[in-house]
Order: sequence, then structure tokens, then C-alpha cells
Amino acid sequence: MNHFLDIHKTAPSDLRHMIDHAREMKTAREGRPRGALDDDQPLEGRMVALIFEKPSTRTRVSFDVGTRQMGGETMVLSGSDMQLGHGETIADTARVLSRYVDLIMIRTFDESVLTEMAEFADVPVINGLTDRTHPCQVMADVMTYEEHRGPITGKKIVWCGDGNNVCASVMHGAAQFGYDVVFTGPKQLDPEEDWQGLVRTAGQSFSIERDAAKAVEGADLIFADTWVSMHDAQSARERRHNMLRPYQVNEELMAKAKPDALFMHCLPAHREEEVTSAVMDGPQSVIFDEAENRLHAQKAVMRWCLGV
Ligand code: CP
Ligand code: NVA
Repeated sequence: MNHFLDIHKTAPSDLRHMIDHAREMKTAREGRPRGALDDDQPLEGRMVALIFEKPSTRTRVSFDVGTRQMGGETMVLSGSDMQLGHGETIADTARVLSRYVDLIMIRTFDESVLTEMAEFADVPVINGLTDRTHPCQVMADVMTYEEHRGPITGKKIVWCGDGNNVCASVMHGAAQFGYDVVFTGPKQLDPEEDWQGLVRTAGQSFSIERDAAKAVEGADLIFADTWVSMHDAQSARERRHNMLRPYQVNEELMAKAKPDALFMHCLPAHREEEVTSAVMDGPQSVIFDEAENRLHAQKAVMRWCLGV
């Protein structure tokens, strides 16, 4: 049994296996209706609990559809509707759920909820996003980059904006997949120093460049994400927008990267804020492939967790 809690807590060989497996499963489904079952039914007879303490479109639907394609069943649970949201401990919730289900995916606020769930569950736990990390997203992103441009190893990735949870997992991927990261954003929103150290200790380059135009020079891949994450106070919205406006990804900025650079965004996006529609809908954008690949990557993650 394996938990999938973070990219940097998972062996590079296992990550690579999951990406390759995801690609194989995607190829095997080409041309088939979305609802068709896979030829293999490795989750037959298995029940997956999907717990959401925050909103979701992609994570919720892709885990649900992916489980069903592999023959399993899901139950989608809202944290606030569970006793978890009314004082039952995470440890007790984990012990109880382990008597009913075969796999738990949780999207939550504080990372400690995820780690405690994993500590006390007898079944695998998957991180579906916390305030601090979003590893499933980066599995889909690496898969997407490699579909379009080949191996991601040695590439220059530029993160524009807030050094948030998705940025953290992109940085964890640098250590495991061997790419370099440049962060461009306001100092107040720099990624955690622990993550900066983690990239450098792994022998990859991590740097901070406050001038977005300089940061993207020679970039192979440019990322943006929302300026106000789900865990951020809405009262900070205007202040964050003012700080982040110079880091908007627009056509002028994209033109300074390599001509074959790709644009990614985990979605949901706020058009004309962190990214313009011209970039989102332009030829370098692979945002909807990323969204699709959440499905395939997470199917591989679930199989790895269950060893099936
Ligand atoms: N990218 C992502 O995790 O999207 P959702 O919030 O819609 O799940
Ligand atoms: N940084 C965003 C990602 C959403 C998928 C958030 O946490 O709201």
C-alpha cells in the first residue's frame, strides 16, 4: 500500500512509472466514449472515498470518472457534511473510513489534515490539494509537457505570480524529474524557502527574478495560477491583484520565451487577470490537455497506491 501525499515524498522511479502508465492507459482508450470501461478492470469491487473541504471541478470529476473507467465505485463526501467538520478527529475518521473503503482522496486546507489521515488510515490516501501542495496537478503537467515536447528533464520552467501550492509542487517536481525553475513574482509571495532549498539540494537550479520579462528569457514552459487561491482571505484580493499585476502572462511576455515554449495553468483561470485570453486560447497553450491528463495521471496514481 502506498500513500500519494507529495511529489518529493515519492521515489522518482515510481513517479516515472506512473507517468508512463498513464500514457499507456490514455493511448488504450483513444477513440472510445468517455464512459466506456477500460479493458482492464483493476478497481472492480473497490470503493473510493473522495473528500472535499474546498470546491473542485477537475479533481472531483477526473477522480470519479477515472475510478469508474477502471471498474470501481466512488462516493463524493463534503467535509462540512461529515462529522469531520463537526468535531470528530481526523484520526478517528481515518480509522472508520478504512473499514468501509479501499482508497481515500482528500482535498483540504491544512496539510496536517492530510498527513494525519494518512497516518491513521489502513488504506492509501491521495493528496487532492492542500493549502501547501497539489501533487496530482504536477503529474498531469509533466505528462502533458512530455506529450508535446518530449522529456522534461533539463528544461527551464518559469512560474509567474504567487508562490502558492501549485508552485510548490512544480518545485518538488524539479527535484524528482530534473528540470530547473525560475520564480518571478513579488517578494511577499515567494515560494517557501524549504522548497527553494529542496530544488537546489537535488542539484537543479532555482532562482528568483523580479523582472518577468527577464525571467522568461529562454523558458521552455511558463506557468500561471490564480492570484487569489481558495485558502487566501478574500479581503486580501485587491492588495494581491496590485502586487501581481506586473506578472500577468500575456502575448508580449510569451514572445520573450523560446518560440516553442508552452503555457500551462492548472485552472480555474481568471481571464485577463493572471493570464490573457489571447494566451489561454493561443497556440502555445496546453491548458485543456493538462485538464484531460488529470484523469489519466490519477488513474495511474490510484493503481500505484493500490498496487493493482
Ligand atoms: N486544477 C484543479 O485542481 O482544479 P479543481 O479545483 O477544479 O479541482
Ligand atoms: N492555487 C489554487 C489552485 C486551484 C486548483 C488554489 O489553491 O485555489
